[in-house]
Amino acid sequence: MWDNVQCPPDGPLDAKIAVVGEAPGAVEVVQRSGFVGASGRILWPVMNEHSIVRDNCYVTNVVKNRPPGNKIGDAEIPWYDPYWLRQLQQELTSVKPNVALALGSTALNALCNVDQNCHPLGRELSIMSWRGSVMASTLVPGLKVLPTVHPALVLRQWRWRTFLATDIARLVEQAQYAEIRRRSRTHLLFPGYRQVIEYINDICAPYATDVEIRNGELACIGLAAKDDEAMCIPLMTRDLTSYWSESEELAIWKALANRFRSPIPSIGQNYVFDLFWYFIYGLTPYLDVVYDTMLMQNLLEPELEKDLATLCSIYTDHLFYKDEGKVWGPNGGRITDEQFYRYNATDSMITREVWTQMCHDLREVGMWDFYHNISMRLIPCVMKPMLRGLRVDLKHQMAVDEQYEKDINELTAEFKRMVGRDINPNSTKQLGEYLYGDKA
Ligand code: URA
Repeated sequence: MWDNVQCPPDGPLDAKIAVVGEAPGAVEVVQRSGFVGASGRILWPVMNEHSIVRDNCYVTNVVKNRPPGNKIGDAEIPWYDPYWLRQLQQELTSVKPNVALALGSTALNALCNVDQNCHPLGRELSIMSWRGSVMASTLVPGLKVLPTVHPALVLRQWRWRTFLATDIARLVEQAQYAEIRRRSRTHLLFPGYRQVIEYINDICAPYATDVEIRNGELACIGLAAKDDEAMCIPLMTRDLTSYWSESEELAIWKALANRFRSPIPSIGQNYVFDLFWYFIYGLTPYLDVVYDTMLMQNLLEPELEKDLATLCSIYTDHLFYKDEGKVWGPNGGRITDEQFYRYNATDSMITREVWTQMCHDLREVGMWDFYHNISMRLIPCVMKPMLRGLRVDLKHQMAVDEQYEKDINELTAEFKRMVGRDINPNSTKQLGEYLYGDKA
């Protein structure tokens, strides 16, 4: 049953920041104020660390009543019903904050995935993909939205507090102005032959590079020697035909071979993948100084995700774009060459921009030398077995596998005996219930 006491919005009606949650919990309904329970105890200390106080924020929820069993999916009126969305639209239109912090998936989709008439716009936006991206609200025209993880999620996965803190650090700046400001970026797509040769030869600073593969072949190579500009060198069209004449392509490969051999450091994300392809195609990249932003992230935030989408959300103001590179678009149609090459150029310049910030951060946390003396030295070691293969003693491997399986079964049985009931040690939910419920 619905809790029929509403938790009304509260806070100054001229606030610069609106905090938008999903629906009130039990404590919020009693106190008739949002984020005063367990989620609030996660949220406000992080806000305070960034000098944002609750009294200066307008606090509201998409749904104003507590849903049955706290499960928004079980609510009689779903969150996307115009009954709720119109209220939210009216509130935020009248408060006019500079930015709305959307906490979790429901707030993100209510603000950015329905039109002004409250009609849904498309597939649900995933909060883990879109968090950290400064977006335009579709529900409230002119409203800037910054989505982040819901504090209740942080209660379940503590490491995601880092995302909450990173996004709230961004909120501080976003609260100063209402418009969306983004760095301007140049994508050099469909370049002419001479332009490619000049671009490759002119590189004189560390450059990021990224390859795209189509049908098991290199389809294009991205190069970015600046944080805000990249060239995509196409090699293959979407019809799998060659982009260049044979003599042009040969000259481009020669220019690339010279570039990669020169001692100017190159940069990649999960770089051994790209390096592998370069070696396969006969290039011999200079490996004495190479930067892999994935390995750098491993030192800076070892417990966090290391993919480029995450790094992009932490270090740049670029919108989440990783869905754009999928060769098969959302409606089953193949993306165009233009979209494919743009994606490659974006990946390259985002890698370059992330690298610039990470160099600074690695120095600041005292890990700069560790990266150069240890992490970076592993790259050539990994490349060798990737290219030549690795001898594996399959018999021994199977024996070790069997032994581990036996050990795991014994330990699981012992654990169940200790707990006194059937429990799955691989289930974080069941373990949580045992450790924080039975054992609390
Ligand atoms: N969770 C929400 O989404 N809103 C609240 O007000 C409290 C918890």
